[in-house]
Amino acid sequence: MDLPLERPANLAVFASGRGSNLDTILRTFPAASELASVKMVMSDVAKAGALAKAEAHAVATYHHPFPSRKRDSHGQGRVAFERAAQARLEQHHIDLICLAGFMRLFSPEFNRTWQGRMLNIHPSLLPEFPGLHPQRQALEAGVSESGCTVHFVDAGVDTGPMILQRRVPVLPNDTEEILAARILEQEHLAYPEAIRKVLRGEVRYAEGVL
Ligand code: GRF
Repeated sequence: MDLPLERPANLAVFASGRGSNLDTILRTFPAASELASVKMVMSDVAKAGALAKAEAHAVATYHHPFPSRKRDSHGQGRVAFERAAQARLEQHHIDLICLAGFMRLFSPEFNRTWQGRMLNIHPSLLPEFPGLHPQRQALEAGVSESGCTVHFVDAGVDTGPMILQRRVPVLPNDTEEILAARILEQEHLAYPEAIRKVLRGEVRYAEGVL
């Protein structure tokens, strides 16, 4: 895919949880926007708040189970999810996938198929604190600054080329929840900005920018 496109881009958002980042993306890129609009939302969790948020915006929603690695030792659940997802992605002519609180890891094949066309947001200043509970990791490490990172997805966990970061202070009385809320405010600014940068062709997978 050559960016910028000469038409509005079709976005898919994958989310497992409450969907506040999804909500921001839906509001920034509603139907018939010039740069992009969200065409579908997919979740591995049937009751995810994200699905209800997408429905409220009249966006197509799909649920397909994606068992955890512990429960899917032969990877068949993952294969089935990816097959279902790929069919929907093709049906909606999706250009860019945005992972927003999507809690599963894709196969190397799926990552390769979408290389440079799949983004993720993570609530830490990567490469620090990848994986689970990054806000807790930041507090335990005693850092004075944290934030969020939007990056391209590669084969690792939160390791792909970075697109942009936004920083927040870590304050003396912060709990995990307080820090997470401070970072989340910045996530809601960072994700739309990163999507714009990618779609305008200002940053490409091979380069990253940070
Ligand atoms: C966000 O903190 C995001 O960075 C992380 O999961 C959380 C999802 O929150 N990957 P929400 O569902 O977008 O509200």
